Amino acid sequence: MRIHRKRGWEIPESQVTPEPLVLSRRALIAAAGAGAMLLPAAKAKAQWFFRREQTPTDPWMRNPAETPDLPPAMRNPRYQPGRAISPEREPVTYNNFYEFGSSKDVWSTALRMPMRPWTIQVDGMVEEPATFDLDDLIRRIGLEERVYRLRCVEAWAMTVPWTGFPLARLMDIVRPLGSAKYLRFETAQKPEAMVALRQSWYPWPHIEGCTVEEAANELAFMPVGLFGKPLPPQNGGPFRVVFPWKYGFKSGKSIARITLTDQRPRSFWETLQGSEYGFWANVNPEVPHPRWSQATERLIGTNERVPTRLFNGYGEFVAGLYTNLQNERLWA
Ligand code: MTE
Repeated sequence: MRIHRKRGWEIPESQVTPEPLVLSRRALIAAAGAGAMLLPAAKAKAQWFFRREQTPTDPWMRNPAETPDLPPAMRNPRYQPGRAISPEREPVTYNNFYEFGSSKDVWSTALRMPMRPWTIQVDGMVEEPATFDLDDLIRRIGLEERVYRLRCVEAWAMTVPWTGFPLARLMDIVRPLGSAKYLRFETAQKPEAMVALRQSWYPWPHIEGCTVEEAANELAFMPVGLFGKPLPPQNGGPFRVVFPWKYGFKSGKSIARITLTDQRPRSFWETLQGSEYGFWANVNPEVPHPRWSQATERLIGTNERVPTRLFNGYGEFVAGLYTNLQNERLWA
Protein backbone atom coordinates (compact mmCIF):
# COMPACT_ATOMS: atom_id res chain seq x y z
CA MET A 1 0.00 0.00 0.00
CA ARG A 2 1.28 3.43 -0.86
CA ILE A 3 0.73 6.29 1.54
CA HIS A 4 0.37 9.72 0.02
CA ARG A 5 2.75 11.95 1.92
CA LYS A 6 1.97 15.59 1.57
CA ARG A 7 4.87 17.63 0.23
CA GLY A 8 5.81 21.09 1.40
CA TRP A 9 5.07 22.53 -2.03
CA GLU A 10 1.53 21.13 -1.90
CA ILE A 11 0.48 23.17 1.11
CA PRO A 12 -2.42 25.61 0.67
CA GLU A 13 -1.71 29.21 -0.29
CA SER A 14 -2.89 30.38 3.16
CA GLN A 15 0.16 28.70 4.66
CA VAL A 16 2.72 30.31 2.41
CA THR A 17 2.54 33.74 3.99
CA PRO A 18 6.05 35.22 4.22
CA GLU A 19 7.67 33.47 7.17
CA PRO A 20 8.23 36.50 9.46
CA LEU A 21 4.51 37.31 9.31
CA VAL A 22 3.52 33.72 10.04
CA LEU A 23 5.85 33.70 12.95
CA SER A 24 4.69 36.89 14.51
CA ARG A 25 1.14 35.55 14.31
CA ARG A 26 2.20 32.22 15.80
CA ALA A 27 4.15 33.92 18.55
CA LEU A 28 1.15 36.07 19.40
CA ILE A 29 -1.19 33.09 19.52
CA ALA A 30 1.26 31.18 21.67
CA ALA A 31 1.80 34.15 23.95
CA ALA A 32 -1.95 34.53 24.38
CA GLY A 33 -2.26 30.90 25.48
CA ALA A 34 -2.07 29.83 29.09
CA GLY A 35 0.56 27.81 30.95
CA ALA A 36 4.16 27.00 30.39
CA MET A 37 4.27 28.21 26.80
CA LEU A 38 3.60 31.77 27.79
CA LEU A 39 6.99 32.76 29.07
CA PRO A 40 9.15 31.18 26.33
CA ALA A 41 6.83 32.45 23.60
CA ALA A 42 6.76 35.97 24.96
CA LYS A 43 10.50 35.91 25.28
CA ALA A 44 10.82 34.49 21.78
CA LYS A 45 8.79 37.32 20.34
CA ALA A 46 11.30 39.85 21.52
CA GLN A 47 14.21 37.99 20.03
CA TRP A 48 15.62 39.50 16.85
CA PHE A 49 18.20 37.98 14.65
CA PHE A 50 21.49 39.41 13.41
CA ARG A 51 21.78 41.66 16.38
CA ARG A 52 25.34 42.52 15.43
CA GLU A 53 26.50 42.18 19.00
CA GLN A 54 29.50 40.18 17.98
CA THR A 55 32.54 41.34 19.84
CA PRO A 56 36.17 41.18 18.78
CA THR A 57 36.66 38.79 21.70
CA ASP A 58 34.81 36.05 19.78
CA PRO A 59 37.79 34.60 17.92
CA TRP A 60 35.66 31.94 16.23
CA MET A 61 33.62 34.53 14.34
CA ARG A 62 34.52 36.35 11.15
CA ASN A 63 34.58 40.06 10.79
CA PRO A 64 30.88 41.09 10.64
CA ALA A 65 31.66 43.54 7.84
CA GLU A 66 32.19 40.54 5.55
CA THR A 67 28.56 39.45 5.70
CA PRO A 68 25.79 41.79 4.61
CA ASP A 69 22.81 42.83 6.67
CA LEU A 70 20.02 40.32 6.70
CA PRO A 71 16.34 40.59 7.49
CA PRO A 72 15.20 40.17 11.11
CA ALA A 73 14.04 36.80 12.38
CA MET A 74 12.06 35.74 15.40
CA ARG A 75 12.41 32.55 17.36
CA ASN A 76 9.73 30.06 16.40
CA PRO A 77 8.18 28.85 19.67
CA ARG A 78 6.83 25.67 18.08
CA TYR A 79 10.17 23.88 18.49
CA GLN A 80 10.98 23.62 22.18
CA PRO A 81 14.28 21.82 22.78
CA GLY A 82 13.45 20.67 26.31
CA ARG A 83 17.05 21.20 27.39
CA ALA A 84 19.42 24.10 27.85
CA ILE A 85 21.07 25.71 24.84
CA SER A 86 24.74 24.70 24.65
CA PRO A 87 27.18 27.42 25.71
CA GLU A 88 28.06 29.23 22.45
CA ARG A 89 31.78 28.64 22.67
CA GLU A 90 31.37 24.84 22.41
CA PRO A 91 29.36 24.32 19.20
CA VAL A 92 31.52 26.82 17.32
CA THR A 93 34.85 25.34 18.39
CA TYR A 94 34.05 21.59 18.44
CA ASN A 95 33.20 20.55 14.91
CA ASN A 96 33.17 17.80 12.35
CA PHE A 97 34.12 19.27 8.98
CA TYR A 98 36.40 16.87 7.15
CA GLU A 99 37.15 19.26 4.28
CA PHE A 100 39.20 21.22 6.82
CA GLY A 101 40.66 18.20 8.64
CA SER A 102 39.55 15.21 10.64
CA SER A 103 40.09 16.66 14.13
CA LYS A 104 37.39 18.51 16.05
CA ASP A 105 39.61 21.56 16.11
CA VAL A 106 39.17 22.94 12.59
CA TRP A 107 37.51 26.25 13.37
CA SER A 108 40.52 28.51 12.90
CA THR A 109 41.35 26.87 9.55
CA ALA A 110 37.72 27.07 8.45
CA LEU A 111 37.56 30.80 9.19
CA ARG A 112 39.76 31.38 6.12
CA MET A 113 37.01 30.26 3.75
CA PRO A 114 35.45 33.11 1.75
CA MET A 115 31.69 33.21 2.35
CA ARG A 116 30.58 35.90 -0.12
CA PRO A 117 29.57 35.86 -2.87
CA TRP A 118 27.84 32.49 -2.35
CA THR A 119 25.60 30.87 -4.93
CA ILE A 120 23.43 27.78 -4.70
CA GLN A 121 22.60 25.87 -7.84
CA VAL A 122 19.32 23.92 -7.71
CA ASP A 123 18.92 21.61 -10.68
CA GLY A 124 17.82 18.19 -11.90
CA MET A 125 14.17 17.16 -11.78
CA VAL A 126 12.60 20.54 -11.07
CA GLU A 127 10.33 22.78 -13.09
CA GLU A 128 12.40 25.89 -12.39
CA PRO A 129 16.13 25.11 -12.13
CA ALA A 130 18.03 28.17 -10.92
CA THR A 131 21.24 29.46 -9.43
CA PHE A 132 20.50 31.69 -6.46
CA ASP A 133 22.64 34.29 -4.81
CA LEU A 134 22.38 33.41 -1.11
CA ASP A 135 21.49 36.92 0.03
CA ASP A 136 18.77 37.23 -2.63
CA LEU A 137 17.34 33.92 -1.47
CA ILE A 138 17.34 35.03 2.17
CA ARG A 139 15.56 38.27 1.30
CA ARG A 140 13.04 36.40 -0.83
CA ILE A 141 12.14 33.71 1.72
CA GLY A 142 12.73 35.46 5.06
CA LEU A 143 14.27 34.02 8.19
CA GLU A 144 13.23 32.49 11.48
CA GLU A 145 15.15 31.12 14.43
CA ARG A 146 14.69 27.55 15.67
CA VAL A 147 16.31 25.88 18.65
CA TYR A 148 17.05 22.29 17.68
CA ARG A 149 18.93 19.42 19.26
CA LEU A 150 21.69 17.97 17.08
CA ARG A 151 22.86 14.41 17.78
CA CYS A 152 26.14 13.28 16.24
CA VAL A 153 26.53 9.59 15.43
CA GLU A 154 29.63 9.74 17.68
CA ALA A 155 27.25 10.07 20.68
CA TRP A 156 27.79 13.74 21.49
CA ALA A 157 24.99 16.25 21.22
CA MET A 158 24.38 19.96 21.23
CA THR A 159 21.35 22.26 21.40
CA VAL A 160 21.61 25.40 19.32
CA PRO A 161 19.57 28.27 17.87
CA TRP A 162 19.81 28.11 14.08
CA THR A 163 18.53 30.94 11.92
CA GLY A 164 17.36 30.04 8.45
CA PHE A 165 14.35 28.90 6.47
CA PRO A 166 12.53 25.61 5.89
CA LEU A 167 13.90 23.53 3.02
CA ALA A 168 10.31 23.18 1.76
CA ARG A 169 10.23 26.94 1.01
CA LEU A 170 13.14 26.52 -1.38
CA MET A 171 11.32 23.58 -2.99
CA ASP A 172 8.25 25.82 -3.42
CA ILE A 173 10.40 28.04 -5.63
CA VAL A 174 12.01 25.38 -7.85
CA ARG A 175 8.97 23.01 -7.90
CA PRO A 176 10.18 19.39 -8.02
CA LEU A 177 8.77 17.26 -10.82
CA GLY A 178 6.48 14.38 -9.80
CA SER A 179 9.24 11.97 -10.88
CA ALA A 180 11.79 13.40 -8.39
CA LYS A 181 12.37 11.10 -5.43
CA TYR A 182 15.53 12.37 -3.75
CA LEU A 183 17.55 15.51 -3.03
CA ARG A 184 21.32 15.36 -3.35
CA PHE A 185 23.25 17.98 -1.36
CA GLU A 186 26.73 18.85 -2.54
CA THR A 187 29.19 20.76 -0.38
CA ALA A 188 31.29 23.47 -2.04
CA GLN A 189 34.90 22.67 -2.86
CA LYS A 190 37.20 25.57 -1.99
CA PRO A 191 40.67 24.03 -2.12
CA GLU A 192 42.46 27.25 -1.05
CA ALA A 193 40.67 27.07 2.31
CA MET A 194 39.52 23.45 2.54
CA VAL A 195 42.99 22.10 2.95
CA ALA A 196 41.92 18.48 3.49
CA LEU A 197 40.49 18.25 -0.04
CA ARG A 198 44.08 17.24 -0.84
CA GLN A 199 43.45 13.97 0.97
CA SER A 200 42.52 12.12 -2.17
CA TRP A 201 41.44 8.94 -0.37
CA TYR A 202 38.22 10.70 0.65
CA PRO A 203 35.37 10.64 -1.91
CA TRP A 204 35.06 14.42 -2.42
CA PRO A 205 32.87 16.35 -2.88
CA HIS A 206 30.91 15.72 0.31
CA ILE A 207 27.47 14.44 -0.74
CA GLU A 208 24.41 13.82 1.38
CA GLY A 209 20.83 13.05 0.49
CA CYS A 210 17.24 12.75 1.61
CA THR A 211 13.89 11.86 0.09
CA VAL A 212 11.49 14.49 -1.23
CA GLU A 213 9.13 13.56 1.60
CA GLU A 214 11.85 14.23 4.19
CA ALA A 215 12.67 17.53 2.46
CA ALA A 216 9.02 18.53 2.75
CA ASN A 217 8.90 17.78 6.46
CA GLU A 218 8.54 20.95 8.49
CA LEU A 219 11.70 20.19 10.51
CA ALA A 220 14.08 20.09 7.50
CA PHE A 221 15.83 23.43 7.84
CA MET A 222 18.45 25.45 5.97
CA PRO A 223 20.46 27.52 8.48
CA VAL A 224 22.36 30.67 7.53
CA GLY A 225 22.90 31.77 11.13
CA LEU A 226 23.79 30.43 14.56
CA PHE A 227 23.38 32.14 17.94
CA GLY A 228 21.90 35.18 16.20
CA LYS A 229 24.99 35.71 14.03
CA PRO A 230 25.92 34.67 10.50
CA LEU A 231 26.64 30.94 10.40
CA PRO A 232 30.40 30.52 10.84
CA PRO A 233 32.19 28.40 8.25
CA GLN A 234 33.16 25.73 10.78
CA ASN A 235 29.44 25.09 11.35
CA GLY A 236 28.69 24.95 7.63
CA GLY A 237 28.43 28.63 6.81
CA PRO A 238 27.19 30.38 4.97
CA PHE A 239 24.46 27.83 4.14
CA ARG A 240 23.81 24.27 5.35
CA VAL A 241 20.99 21.84 5.94
CA VAL A 242 19.87 20.23 9.21
CA PHE A 243 17.66 17.19 9.77
CA PRO A 244 17.40 17.20 13.58
CA TRP A 245 15.90 13.71 13.81
CA LYS A 246 18.85 12.11 12.01
CA TYR A 247 22.46 11.65 13.01
CA GLY A 248 24.42 14.83 12.35
CA PHE A 249 26.41 13.45 9.43
CA LYS A 250 23.25 13.72 7.29
CA SER A 251 23.32 17.51 7.72
CA GLY A 252 25.64 18.64 4.92
CA LYS A 253 27.59 21.86 5.37
CA SER A 254 28.50 24.82 3.11
CA ILE A 255 26.16 23.67 0.38
CA ALA A 256 26.71 24.85 -3.19
CA ARG A 257 24.35 22.61 -5.14
CA ILE A 258 21.09 20.72 -4.59
CA THR A 259 20.01 18.26 -7.27
CA LEU A 260 16.59 16.63 -7.49
CA THR A 261 16.87 13.11 -8.84
CA ASP A 262 15.11 9.76 -9.08
CA GLN A 263 18.31 7.94 -7.99
CA ARG A 264 19.13 7.53 -4.31
CA PRO A 265 22.31 9.58 -3.73
CA ARG A 266 25.30 7.66 -2.44
CA SER A 267 26.64 9.79 0.37
CA PHE A 268 30.20 10.59 1.40
CA TRP A 269 29.97 8.45 4.53
CA GLU A 270 28.12 5.62 2.83
CA THR A 271 30.87 5.44 0.21
CA LEU A 272 33.53 5.39 2.92
CA GLN A 273 31.89 2.91 5.30
CA GLY A 274 28.45 1.77 4.18
CA SER A 275 28.12 -0.85 6.93
CA GLU A 276 28.25 1.90 9.56
CA TYR A 277 26.73 4.93 7.84
CA GLY A 278 23.69 4.39 5.68
CA PHE A 279 21.20 6.51 3.80
CA TRP A 280 18.52 6.92 6.49
CA ALA A 281 20.51 7.33 9.71
CA ASN A 282 17.56 8.13 11.98
CA VAL A 283 18.50 8.39 15.66
CA ASN A 284 17.59 5.30 17.69
CA PRO A 285 18.96 4.54 21.18
CA GLU A 286 18.26 0.83 20.75
CA VAL A 287 20.30 0.30 17.61
CA PRO A 288 24.00 0.51 18.50
CA HIS A 289 26.63 1.70 16.10
CA PRO A 290 28.74 -1.37 15.18
CA ARG A 291 31.50 0.03 17.45
CA TRP A 292 29.63 1.76 20.29
CA SER A 293 26.30 2.09 22.05
CA GLN A 294 23.82 4.80 21.08
CA ALA A 295 21.81 4.47 24.30
CA THR A 296 23.15 7.72 25.80
CA GLU A 297 24.72 10.93 24.54
CA ARG A 298 27.20 13.45 25.95
CA LEU A 299 26.08 17.08 25.97
CA ILE A 300 28.93 19.24 24.80
CA GLY A 301 29.56 22.08 27.20
CA THR A 302 28.55 20.23 30.37
CA ASN A 303 29.69 16.68 29.46
CA GLU A 304 26.51 15.43 31.12
CA ARG A 305 25.33 12.02 29.82
CA VAL A 306 21.63 11.81 29.04
CA PRO A 307 19.48 9.11 27.42
CA THR A 308 19.25 9.21 23.62
CA ARG A 309 15.71 9.58 22.30
CA LEU A 310 14.11 7.87 19.33
CA PHE A 311 14.27 10.22 16.32
CA ASN A 312 16.26 12.49 18.65
CA GLY A 313 12.94 13.32 20.33
CA TYR A 314 11.26 14.49 17.10
CA GLY A 315 9.08 11.41 16.53
CA GLU A 316 5.83 13.35 16.64
CA PHE A 317 6.96 15.28 13.56
CA VAL A 318 8.66 12.54 11.55
CA ALA A 319 7.70 9.00 12.59
CA GLY A 320 4.95 8.95 9.94
CA LEU A 321 7.55 9.32 7.19
CA TYR A 322 8.82 5.80 7.85
CA THR A 323 5.75 3.67 8.58
CA ASN A 324 5.89 2.08 5.12
CA LEU A 325 9.65 1.59 5.05
CA GLN A 326 10.18 -1.11 7.65
CA ASN A 327 12.39 -3.15 5.30
CA GLU A 328 14.92 -0.33 5.03
CA ARG A 329 17.92 0.15 7.35
CA LEU A 330 16.24 3.13 8.97
CA TRP A 331 18.61 3.46 11.94
CA ALA A 332 22.09 3.40 10.44
N1 MTE B 1 29.33 18.30 6.06
C1 MTE B 1 30.48 18.32 5.38
N2 MTE B 1 30.51 18.90 4.17
N3 MTE B 1 31.63 17.75 5.86
C2 MTE B 1 31.64 17.11 7.08
O1 MTE B 1 32.69 16.60 7.49
N4 MTE B 1 30.34 16.45 9.07
C3 MTE B 1 29.01 16.04 9.50
C4 MTE B 1 27.98 17.14 9.30
N5 MTE B 1 28.11 17.75 8.01
C5 MTE B 1 30.42 17.07 7.83
C6 MTE B 1 29.28 17.71 7.29
C7 MTE B 1 28.97 15.56 10.87
S1 MTE B 1 29.69 14.04 11.15
C8 MTE B 1 28.36 16.23 11.84
S2 MTE B 1 28.14 15.56 13.40
C9 MTE B 1 27.86 17.60 11.65
O2 MTE B 1 28.13 18.09 10.34
C10 MTE B 1 28.53 18.51 12.66
O3 MTE B 1 28.05 19.82 12.58
P1 MTE B 1 28.65 20.91 13.58
O4 MTE B 1 30.13 20.93 13.42
O5 MTE B 1 28.00 22.19 13.21
O6 MTE B 1 28.26 20.43 14.96
